[in-house]
Amino acid sequence: MRNLRLRSALLVPMWLGSALLGTAAVSGCEAVAAGDDFTQAYDGYLNKCASCHAPGAAGATAGIETTLDFSTADTARASLKTGSAAGLTGNQASCNGVPFVVAGKPEQSLLMAVLDENVRQNLDLASHAGCDGTAATDMTIRVGGADADAIAKVRAWITAGAE
Ligand code: HEC
Repeated sequence: MRNLRLRSALLVPMWLGSALLGTAAVSGCEAVAAGDDFTQAYDGYLNKCASCHAPGAAGATAGIETTLDFSTADTARASLKTGSAAGLTGNQASCNGVPFVVAGKPEQSLLMAVLDENVRQNLDLASHAGCDGTAATDMTIRVGGADADAIAKVRAWITAGAE
């Protein structure tokens, strides 16, 4: 008898605890299912960049931006997070070595500079002074125009830490 009471006294908080955990797990799943900012930006827009920036892409220029891989949302996210510009020649060469994304700092991210005219014109990198608004190129024209909604999502993703 004593034992039974002790058991049920323990069981109630355990049941409550798992019910609470269950709720947290379910809402976590919903957030992922809807897609984060980056995935939405990729699905709606950045996938077009793969016509040039993907291994073997028809529009690729040999040796240029071999680090960028827009084949899938996952490869795009990974190559943008860890990569930096490489293989650029001529006027763009001063951007070689510039990271595509600086977590938390959209104004200093080369990815934003190629998507947003304002960021591009104000680009001011202490480490690469030559990579300014004339060296970073507008990439929106290469995919037929800008998509303000998707670009806002890229900005939100970088601002939130580019995870
Ligand atoms: C038609 C081919 C083509 C498409 C489509 C394209 N790019 Fe590029 N991209 C290039 C080339 C070529 C370069 C090398 C620099 C240059 O020529 O301007 C480059 C360079 C870059 C760079 C390096 C920075 C710079 O200014 O050179 C980034 C970042 C970049 N592209 C991102 C993108 C993104 C994001 C998209 C999609 C919105 C995209 N590109 C679409 C061809 C393309």
